[in-house]
Amino acid sequence: MSAPAPGTRRLVVAGALLDDLARPRLLLAARRHRPAALAGRWELPGGKAEPGERPVQALRRELREELGVEVEVGAELPAADPEGWPLSPALVMRVWWARVSAGWPEPLEDHDELRWLGEGGWEGVDWLAGDLPVVRGLLAALPGP
Ligand code: C5P
Repeated sequence: MSAPAPGTRRLVVAGALLDDLARPRLLLAARRHRPAALAGRWELPGGKAEPGERPVQALRRELREELGVEVEVGAELPAADPEGWPLSPALVMRVWWARVSAGWPEPLEDHDELRWLGEGGWEGVDWLAGDLPVVRGLLAALPGP
């Protein structure tokens, strides 16, 4: 498969929602119930940015719509590809560390369960294929003990 031409993939934005940005222990995972092909698999909550929408603005909108929360957005998790983490030939994802600043996350749209994964358990759910390398990247980026 040849590499997609730059800028042709649709941008997906997602949040690595933590209990605490400075001393992260818990990471929020969301289980999709739709579409059927993704049902039961876990992802970092987020979704497609609208054309012309600034990525962080899209992230705030998606997390408000999907989880009912406002977030403090931290640093972006850098990907090897400057456009982001590849999800498919048509989709590329950018991911930011974030923390809930108002509200309590609830599965309002595409998800039927949310789970705060504790220390040592971040890889312990059936992540979507594109999210697993991201979660490993998050773990690698965590500050040491
Ligand atoms: O949430 P939404 O349907 O807008 O997501 C668009 C696409 O991005 C879906 O195909 C979904 O599987 C993918 N996605 C993903 N990992 C995420 C968020 C979305 O693979 N963390």
